[in-house]
Amino acid sequence: MTAIDTQALKKIVAEKAVNDYVKDGMIVGLGTGSTAYFAIKRVGELVASGYKLTCVATSHQTEELARESGINVVPLCDVDHVDVTIDGADEVDPELQLIKGLGGALLREKIVAAATLEEIIVVDESKIVEKLGSKCPLPVEVVPYGHNRTAYALSRQGCEPVLRMKDGKIFKTDGGNFVYDCRFKEIPSPFFLETRLNVIPGVVENGLFLNTAAVVLVSHPDGTVTKMERD
Ligand code: A5P
Repeated sequence: MTAIDTQALKKIVAEKAVNDYVKDGMIVGLGTGSTAYFAIKRVGELVASGYKLTCVATSHQTEELARESGINVVPLCDVDHVDVTIDGADEVDPELQLIKGLGGALLREKIVAAATLEEIIVVDESKIVEKLGSKCPLPVEVVPYGHNRTAYALSRQGCEPVLRMKDGKIFKTDGGNFVYDCRFKEIPSPFFLETRLNVIPGVVENGLFLNTAAVVLVSHPDGTVTKMERD
């Protein structure tokens, strides 16, 4: 069978997630990134077909795309829970632990995930790893004040923090913060590392999403989608 290109793999898995998990009347969390893009477009089609959905967005970019797609977006503060969120990830390990945030929306993504009853992660198989940190750096969002001191404290955890830049300027998150992409040789214990990162003054949030995903849908080059589920 012909291998399907990466964009098509993202579309297949994102649309399957929406078709399988979004039901009429739900409160839906909309993720951020190039895979979540296809989920948002599919949610827009459901709305156009008559579904009554209330949606919350995990970034300004997603909110804009959702509104353009005819989706009703409300602030997270206006809902008391989110039924289902469909979001991408940068790495997924066999225990469904994740690294997220290469798109820079980790803080809002984590807040929305925490309010969500069922977090559905959509990835193509290139995102599956044996150990977190083996392919991509761990994004850490920090406040701008004294950020190089915060970066020094991050480096003491065994990584090389690199300040994220965009178009020749320091990249700023929706919250006005900076991101350090932290390259670890290995992350032997994500839970331990998360605890260490969270106590560093200046760290706002980190890209470890632990025990967050209820389901991970994975698309493969032959066009099939497989499901990883929490026990
Ligand atoms: C956004 O901040 C991220 O967490 C994305 O969900 C993640 O980077 C996956 O993005 P892609 O689907 O674009 O790879």
